[in-house]
Amino acid sequence: MGGSDRLVDAARAARLHAVSDFSGFKVGAALETDTGEIITGCNIENATYGLTICAERVAIFKALSEGKRSFTRIAVVADTSAPTPPCGACRQIIWEFCGDVEVIIANLTTVAMTLRMTGLLPLPFDKRLL
Ligand code: THU
Repeated sequence: MGGSDRLVDAARAARLHAVSDFSGFKVGAALETDTGEIITGCNIENATYGLTICAERVAIFKALSEGKRSFTRIAVVADTSAPTPPCGACRQIIWEFCGDVEVIIANLTTVAMTLRMTGLLPLPFDKRLL
């Protein structure tokens, strides 16, 4: 598969800001809005471990806090040969705030896969069920 587009490159750059002193595992994310803007995030860990926030949620919360509400794609980058997909918590948040967006999973050189949220989170719980 192809190596990069500007969204993947933005996630690669964001990954360098990871605050991952405890795991040493750096992740970058880049979220694209419907107007083509890119908002990035990296994982942020702290001494209690459990308050860690993944790169994907940082990017989404940043975007929401800036008033952005409509998204088209999210790219996730880690330095691994096996793809690093969003964790369960992030899948829920991506689904609720971004919908059935394209999720691009890449490493530093290669795009491993591109799939949609309905593939990553079948049978989701969301506000339609409340
Ligand atoms: N992590 C992410 O930021 N995104 C993912 O998709 C998987 C995991 C982070 C959380 C934690 O800081 C580190 O990677 C190890 O789990």
